[in-house]
Amino acid sequence: MKVDVLVIGAGAAGLMCAIAAGQRGRQVLVVDHANKVGKKILMSGGGRCNFTNTGVTPASYLSANPHFAKSALARYTPADFIELVEKHRIAYHEKELGQLFCDESSKLIVRMLLDECAQAGVRIETSCGVERVSKSEEGFSVRTARGEVHAASLVIATGGLSIPSMGATGFGYELARQFGHQVLPTRAGLVPLTLSGKHQERYQDLAGLALPQVSARVGKRSFRAGLLFTHRGISGPSILQISSYWQPGDDLRIDLLPELDMADWLNAQRAARPAMELKNVLADALPKRLAQRLCELWFESRPMKQYREAELNQIAAQLHDWPIVASGTEGYRTAEVTLGGVDTDGLSSSTMQSKLVPGLYFIGEVVDVTGWLGGYNFQWAWASGQAAGQVV
Ligand code: FDA
Repeated sequence: MKVDVLVIGAGAAGLMCAIAAGQRGRQVLVVDHANKVGKKILMSGGGRCNFTNTGVTPASYLSANPHFAKSALARYTPADFIELVEKHRIAYHEKELGQLFCDESSKLIVRMLLDECAQAGVRIETSCGVERVSKSEEGFSVRTARGEVHAASLVIATGGLSIPSMGATGFGYELARQFGHQVLPTRAGLVPLTLSGKHQERYQDLAGLALPQVSARVGKRSFRAGLLFTHRGISGPSILQISSYWQPGDDLRIDLLPELDMADWLNAQRAARPAMELKNVLADALPKRLAQRLCELWFESRPMKQYREAELNQIAAQLHDWPIVASGTEGYRTAEVTLGGVDTDGLSSSTMQSKLVPGLYFIGEVVDVTGWLGGYNFQWAWASGQAAGQVV
């Protein structure tokens, strides 16, 4: 079969690219080895797809080249995607921090993309793996499970390594290497952190306990959001966010009460409740079991009047700067994204086209561009898909 454009990967980026190319009158085929399209869209946002973030800026993305994402993000914005969502009458709401979710179901986003594909004349083949890709005179020859496909343009939209059970593969990276591209080391991002040994033993039984607002910090980067204790370690939005900036051995600090000046607060409590024990005072600011555990581990609990101001200041400083020793991450099994990937040095930032092989494009998560938690990764998928879709 002969087509103008072959897109490998029917996820967020691949479908968006196919729509844009199809609308330009290109003959587009999308193949995916999974049995249905957009599996990650379906499972995203707890089934409601956090499809974009109104606060998207290039600063919300990690990449070896922080400038790379600028062009595509500027040319296809959250407002553009919102317009599409509204055109399809999909109800949505802002949860917090600019995060937009469907009111009903992620299925509506997949349906919208499929409807747009159908209107643009895009053909989609699922359960169709790719066995071999080679460069030919007219473009590319690709051996798929349904036979040989010849395409002038080849778009790689196979995503990252996260959630292998959903069809994630390293195919895009292998193909990039095959055509001479550098692939930067990959690792799991937006992922829970694990504790081990005595660090795990200390907090394991707190699994399920949540703090609504902490500040998790690595170096100068910090995120203020919730924290959750798990059986294996710590999770919650603040930890998922900071996990993308943390590497084994890095110093991770948690401000357990970023909204309170703990030194002032503890000294005021001493004046107001001199006979009350520290652990009970702390239980007004932190979950009771955590307050007790911190007193067992860090500072013995005595009646407040027995503490000198300097001691309370010291305790306050520890609560604002808890050094938690993480041993690793839960890895790709539970990670939302994959950091690293196809080096942007080898790609055009305006079209996503390979600088080495004309006609070859890489879009979405397979590229070394990774967003924060909160709709940023889909926005990159839509924007990079559009950028390529305008030119393939
Ligand atoms: P994506 O992974 O979507 O698609 C790649 C496609 O390629 C898949 O369909 C796969 O089957 C196919 N493929 C892979 N290898 C292949 C091969 N060898 N041959 C053929 N096909 C192949 N982001 C966000 O912004 N908001 C959110 O709410 C969430 N929520 C979320 C929840 C969970 C649980 C996860 C795991 C991830 C998220 N994300 C997210 C991240 C988001 O899902 C992700 O960044 C995008 O789906 C990336 O889009 P891509 O199209 O690049 O890859």
